[in-house]
Amino acid sequence: MRDSVYTPGAGHSPRVLAGRDDILRDWQLMLNDVDARGRVRAQDIVLVGPRGVGKTATMSAFAALATQQGFECVNLQGVVGQAGLVESLLQRAQTRIAAESGPWHRTRAAFERLSSVNISVAGFGGGLSTRETKQPGTRLNAGSLAQALAELAGEIRQDQPHGGLLVTVDEMQAATAVDLALVAATLHRLNVDHRSAVVLFAGTGLPFTAEVLRKAGVTHPDRLFILQDIPLTLEVADARYAVIEPAREAGVTWEPEAADLIVDVSNGYPAHLQLFADAAWSAAPGPDAITLVDVQTSLPAVGAQLERRTLGPDGTASPTSRWSSWPPSPYTVDVHQSPSSPRH
Ligand SMILES: Nc1ncnc2c1ncn2[C@@H]1O[C@H](COP(=O)(O)OP(=O)(O)O)[C@@H](O)[C@H]1O
Ligand SMILES: [Mg+2]
Repeated sequence: MRDSVYTPGAGHSPRVLAGRDDILRDWQLMLNDVDARGRVRAQDIVLVGPRGVGKTATMSAFAALATQQGFECVNLQGVVGQAGLVESLLQRAQTRIAAESGPWHRTRAAFERLSSVNISVAGFGGGLSTRETKQPGTRLNAGSLAQALAELAGEIRQDQPHGGLLVTVDEMQAATAVDLALVAATLHRLNVDHRSAVVLFAGTGLPFTAEVLRKAGVTHPDRLFILQDIPLTLEVADARYAVIEPAREAGVTWEPEAADLIVDVSNGYPAHLQLFADAAWSAAPGPDAITLVDVQTSLPAVGAQLERRTLGPDGTASPTSRWSSWPPSPYTVDVHQSPSSPRH
């Protein structure tokens, strides 16, 4: 078959983001409200859930919708062991300011003030040097960062009347405490001091992110952020849609039983749905149908690959492994009694 329409692999946005209509609708409503009233109507959302459920994909969809409306998006990522969040924001600013014109350039004074100081947050005494310190002892505080972001959002709106600034942070749980505290304090300052600024925030994190925020000194993460749980599995209809719709759009038909089997063995877990659907697509001789046989042919290899990945070094299954007893050998298919499907 021709190039696959599936998107296995972390962070790859699916062609069809199944089961997220409600979240995206709420986001679109907020884009409208923030456009009309500013920060006062913003909700800083953090998508929380295990790996592979579509947090990054959903946040990318947020960013795409915001961009369509004229927002500028600054996408940051927490990386374990790197004090990088705010630093990469400032580096981004540095690069953009270098352009001859545009909103970043017009906000350069505010960012230049920021990038010449030490990052440290009250209560942390952190003092991560962002770059050459021109004014030793000056603190990059939440107030001046909020000021710079609000100014930037204002400039963006000079060019894009319905736009603003969206800052996203993927993998928040991996960011340093100093960074998280500064981000939280900055959002708070925006709420208090810049109520009409069109600045939005969205983040993602593993299930213990609220705890990480608390440890970073954010006393009530659930008041500052909307912590939105992304469930481990999609509903059956959404899972079928995730499998079938990308193919249907490309003129390829799934045998219903073939799609059902994918839903069964993945249990609707988005990362595995993509993996299995992709493998079936590749196994199908094509050109315009995927059959139960194609799925049966492709599953054992992918299942075995997953089993290897989820087995611990001592060969025992990790607590999350659903593959320790699957695929049965020799592999047989009973669509209605898949061993890994607790749904039936
Ligand atoms: N709602 C969805 N519908 C279909 N596929 C999805 C959906 N959400 C995520 N995926 C797919 O699942 C995998 C994991 O998505 P990702 O956004 O990286 O998850 P996370 O950030 O939660 O670890 C990717 O292959 C992605 O294409
Ligand atoms: Mg992710």
